[in-house]
Amino acid sequence: MTLLAKYGPWALITGASEGTGSAFARQLADAGLNLILIARREGPLAGLAADIRAKGVECVTASVDLSALDASVKIAEVAGDREIGLFIANAGADTNGSLFLDKDIADWDQLTTMNVFTTMRNCHHFGQGMRARKRGGIIIVGSGACYGGLHGLAVYCAAKAFALTFGEALWSELGDHGVDVLNLILGRTDTPAHRLILEQSGQPVPEGMAQPEDVARVGLERLPHGPIHNWGEDENTIGMSAASPAQRRGKILAIKAMSQGYSVKQDA
Ligand SMILES: NC(=O)c1ccc[n+]([C@@H]2O[C@H](COP(=O)([O-])OP(=O)(O)OC[C@H]3O[C@@H](n4cnc5c(N)ncnc54)[C@H](OP(=O)(O)O)[C@@H]3O)[C@@H](O)[C@H]2O)c1
Repeated sequence: MTLLAKYGPWALITGASEGTGSAFARQLADAGLNLILIARREGPLAGLAADIRAKGVECVTASVDLSALDASVKIAEVAGDREIGLFIANAGADTNGSLFLDKDIADWDQLTTMNVFTTMRNCHHFGQGMRARKRGGIIIVGSGACYGGLHGLAVYCAAKAFALTFGEALWSELGDHGVDVLNLILGRTDTPAHRLILEQSGQPVPEGMAQPEDVARVGLERLPHGPIHNWGEDENTIGMSAASPAQRRGKILAIKAMSQGYSVKQDA
């Protein structure tokens, strides 16, 4: 099945204007999907949208701050009744560059809102249509920080851990309904946001960073093989995680088989 047949006709991407988000957008447009692109700055969104439309597909943009509590409501309004077959939660980097106690709690609330509440609510909204249509895909772009607490990244690690386990459970719940879910766990990737963080913290640009185009291509290839892909690692490598993707998948399926999950109302 083509990407269009499996995940079309519309894909919605948060954090779509640059880096991995724009790489996803360009590759999906090449595959014939129409796109809804979300970010804050309108200029970069408009430039990308023009490129996307030149590929012969439709493109809608919206300036929405994902760290605001009403972000998912605004995004649902933008999407309207378009059939969203693919939702990619891309934005989520920690630009605070700070120890936990050295920033206002409002900054950590915003980071948590973007990675936890907005991602969860968008999945709830767009997942409904996908489950009803028995077709679709969700990619949650994560970080190796999800696998444990790291000095200087307390809230980021915790928020990405939420996204990881949430995505694993969704993979189990929605898989029976033809909806693919993938946690795409990245290491260091050469995005504008990452470069800015390096510059602001006085760190050199590391060698061998992943390229956004490769990340997007691999993410789309691995989407039917969730719940996790750890960038640069194969299925049976534990690597940066406490257990390999294959071990974590096996555990989820074993618990599902034993108890049919813990939901009160079982799926039909
Ligand atoms: N780059 C890496 O090395 C790396 C490593 C591990 C994991 N990741 C993960 O990969 C994903 C992408 O990372 P990234 O480095 O490209 O940085 P990012 O800041 O997460 O994503 C950049 C994109 O998101 C938009 N954006 C950022 N904050 C936003 C907000 N509050 N509301 C709406 N849009 C927002 C930006 O446009 P605007 O500024 O115009 O809003 C831009 O389009 C993230 O989930 C990150 O955690 C990245």
